[in-house]
Amino acid sequence: MSDRIDQQAVGERYGAWFSRGPRGAVMRYLFSSRGLWILNTPYRRILASARITAADRVLDLGCGIGNILIALSRRTSFTAPPVGVDVSPVLIEIARRELSRAGLSDQVQLLVAPATQLPFPDGRFDVVVTSHVIKHLDDQAMTTAFSEVVRVLRPGGRFLMWEFKKSPMSVPLFWSARTSGLPPPFKLRDRDTLAQALTRAGFSQVAPVPTGIFLLPPVPRMALLAQR
Ligand SMILES: C[S@@+](CC[C@H](N)C(=O)[O-])C[C@H]1O[C@@H](n2cnc3c(N)ncnc32)[C@H](O)[C@@H]1O
Repeated sequence: MSDRIDQQAVGERYGAWFSRGPRGAVMRYLFSSRGLWILNTPYRRILASARITAADRVLDLGCGIGNILIALSRRTSFTAPPVGVDVSPVLIEIARRELSRAGLSDQVQLLVAPATQLPFPDGRFDVVVTSHVIKHLDDQAMTTAFSEVVRVLRPGGRFLMWEFKKSPMSVPLFWSARTSGLPPPFKLRDRDTLAQALTRAGFSQVAPVPTGIFLLPPVPRMALLAQR
């Protein structure tokens, strides 16, 4: 079986997942800024490791419906609006509604784009964050995406990523992906594999970040902070 992952198909599946019926409503709550405490329980502590300031130009890669961008923008009056990209046009549309609801429409910029082709000039950002996205990239796409992150970061810029940790406890995720309709061929990697890929992409320093406990799914996550 091929281990390629079709990025557009993942985006379409997310779009369908978030749009339809009662399940869509649950997903929209869980992935909203209101649901951060459930799906991204220790996000404040993880984000703190990137030491984001008001002067930082921030990109959220795979921003979903804008939960982290909203949380960041509520806390910090950024000089330049933070930017979110996601491969799913449906999720970006929902993110626009979420921003409007939060009164932050003018303070965040959203774009549809795949992680492998970021529509920004070199050195455009000081910080890139990405939460629970890397598993959706096959090896080739991950390599390209990390190179893209290096490219759009200024020298010295930071890349903070977190994802499910590859462990026996993460096995049920694959069953739930099958039953919930998310394309099953997502790929979890261990910390060393990710750290090596980041180094190969051009990051000079890669360090683990303590994550703490996540409520849902109740499986461990891992986080890395890399510096360009
Ligand atoms: C599990 S959700 C995480 C959303 C948000 N970052 C969070 O932590 O709540 C994964 C997100 O990654 C996006 N995504 C998946 N593959 C992508 C790709 N190749 N390029 C950009 N976004 C992608 C999906 O559309 C979805 O919004």
